[in-house]
Amino acid sequence: MAAIAGVIAAAGRGERLGSELPKALVELAGRPLVSWAAAALVPVCDVLVVVVPPEVGAEPFRAALAGSGVPLRLVAGGEERALSVRAGFAAAGDAEAVVVHDAARPFATPLLARACLDALADADAAIAATPLVDTVKESSDGRYVERTLDRSRLWAVQTPQAFRADALRAALALPDAVVRAATDEAALVERCGGRVRLVPASPRNFKITVRDDLELAAALAGVAASGSRE
Ligand code: C5P
Repeated sequence: MAAIAGVIAAAGRGERLGSELPKALVELAGRPLVSWAAAALVPVCDVLVVVVPPEVGAEPFRAALAGSGVPLRLVAGGEERALSVRAGFAAAGDAEAVVVHDAARPFATPLLARACLDALADADAAIAATPLVDTVKESSDGRYVERTLDRSRLWAVQTPQAFRADALRAALALPDAVVRAATDEAALVERCGGRVRLVPASPRNFKITVRDDLELAAALAGVAASGSRE
């Protein structure tokens, strides 16, 4: 089978979590979040690239991912998420497909990553997503509602996101300002006219953003979050 590269975006500072450590190194049930994220990708990848915060450097990540069982490359990230993924992709080598995943999602599974890769059979990108359950309103000022969106057509997007390497290369070659503004890489593939497939996923694959998310994750993992409030 052709080579598959995994790219874990782990270069965020995680300021909203209020931790001294970068978010990817914050522990959940005794293991850093990046190691949980890697567990979803390792079984489906031939090489794993982890994009790390430049000011932290590779060493703590190398230690967190020691013995993961797949060749590991660590590269410094950029100021915005898609710039980090661009740096990771550049280090991925000659892959036919790439699966991008957030270090901040500890509960993705190899099955989900595999489902995204399989869905590339008839798409340029295939992304984990859940149908929206909440009604969504639009507001410019954060005070008054301008309109209500049609929930039946809306999906909340997660990672893993799998890409044909050619499609991701073209997407990440868009101008810096466009890449910078993208909150996921699939949006850049859409912009290039690519076909992006939705892969139904579990809401359990949520992203750790604030302290409450970490506490919820710890409850799901069956233990108290390290350093949680007394
Ligand atoms: O900030 P947010 O929670 O959306 O970040 C999603 C993922 O992207 C996280 O795993 C974070 O480490 C990563 N990221 C990155 N480079 C950035 C910003 C975020 O790799 N500059």
